[in-house]
Amino acid sequence: MIQITQPGIIRLGVLASGRGSNFDAICAAIDRGDLQAQIEILISDKADAAALEKASKRGISARFIDPNSFADRQYYEGEIVSTLRGAGVELVVLAGYMRLVGQVMLQNYRWRILNIHPALLPSFTGLHAQKQAVEYGVRFSGCTVHMVDEGMDTGPIIRQAVVPVYQYDDEDSLAARILEQEHNLYWQSLQLFAQGRVYLDGRKVIIRDESREEMA
Ligand code: GRF
Repeated sequence: MIQITQPGIIRLGVLASGRGSNFDAICAAIDRGDLQAQIEILISDKADAAALEKASKRGISARFIDPNSFADRQYYEGEIVSTLRGAGVELVVLAGYMRLVGQVMLQNYRWRILNIHPALLPSFTGLHAQKQAVEYGVRFSGCTVHMVDEGMDTGPIIRQAVVPVYQYDDEDSLAARILEQEHNLYWQSLQLFAQGRVYLDGRKVIIRDESREEMA
């Protein structure tokens, strides 16, 4: 069993491609003192990502790294990794980052890259997870914070939150209900890392119970 992080203020690097509402929720949790973390940098693969502007406004270093200006994913990710390392990032937070993570990032930040997915994994991986859930007719969906591995949304699960799916939901109404939960689930999961409570046993994440010596 391996412990992923030691207790202490955790140094985060956020990767985002879009509006950045999860990024905002994480910043708010830090501001409130609920999350013992510091965001060292926000990186985006999209020049016009709202998340870049949100980071700058908060005085967080924000960088656009253009995937098209690198020969392939290996070089692109090499630049991302050296930027993250240069900023002293320990844990990488994908917050609406719309790219598959490749070997360079995975090897440099093994089990230290997290993602949030708007469904109860392992159901409804990939794009339009909320639409998939509505079309399938499930009664419950939700969101999942997980470690990133080689697959698409297949890595070890850290936490999940459940929301009901109503008969007349469409993709947007379900997405809004799930997003509300995402905004709590992500920072709460990150706080477990700041407390040094996250362990990995095979593909299972074990969260050490704060109040007891044994594993929860
Ligand atoms: C969220 O729905 C998240 O689950 C998915 O991408 C979306 C990002 O939204 N991975 P935002 O950019 O954080 O607002």
